[in-house]
Amino acid sequence: METIKISPSLLSADWMNLQSELDNLSAWGADMVHCDVIDGLFAPNITFGMPMISALKRVSKLPLDVHLMIVKPERYIQKFISAGSDTISFHPEASEKPVEVLDMIRKNGIKAGIALNPDVPASVAKDFLDHIDYILLMGVFPGFGGQKFIPEVMGKIDECKKYTVGRDIYIELDGGVTVENIGEMKRRGLDAAVAGNAVFAAPDPAEAVRKLKA
Ligand code: DX5
Ligand code: ZN
Repeated sequence: METIKISPSLLSADWMNLQSELDNLSAWGADMVHCDVIDGLFAPNITFGMPMISALKRVSKLPLDVHLMIVKPERYIQKFISAGSDTISFHPEASEKPVEVLDMIRKNGIKAGIALNPDVPASVAKDFLDHIDYILLMGVFPGFGGQKFIPEVMGKIDECKKYTVGRDIYIELDGGVTVENIGEMKRRGLDAAVAGNAVFAAPDPAEAVRKLKA
């Protein structure tokens, strides 16, 4: 069995020292770097945009896992592609043309995902199966790191696994993942997990990544 991929979220990193945080992530055994782009409209926080993704791309040895929490991602998608994103997910309800956005991402050789908030049914994914490489299931309402996982989301992993049988689509969970609850997610077949606080706030982040993957 393949081990779960871990994508630590930079939201919880030390932004004064991002270069060393990126080096740390490689050394700790992380698989991707989760970049949370929030516009203050789709979710209640404002983080960073395309220039930050280009800057990160120049030094990161790991793929950039870009999560767009923005209204009308179609306005900026080409710029996030050019900035060097390796995977891009967005929330379909925030877009007027989600299928076009997904196709545009994939046309550029980048993996495309739909992100589903805790109150968006997993069945929404069924409309996009021919256009996605992954589903990003939110374990919390987007905006901030360090929130508590909403346990009802657990069952959505099973649903998504069912919808994606026989397809090359992976399931990633974002928000509230801990060393304690990731076991249950793995048993349900989760392929990748974002971990912000569970990694960056741990006394020994390398050990935290090891335990999350174990
Ligand atoms: C929530 C973000 C998440 C979050 C994860 O708005 O999409 O990526 O930062 O952080 P933790 O793992 O601390 O919940
Ligand atoms: Zn995220």
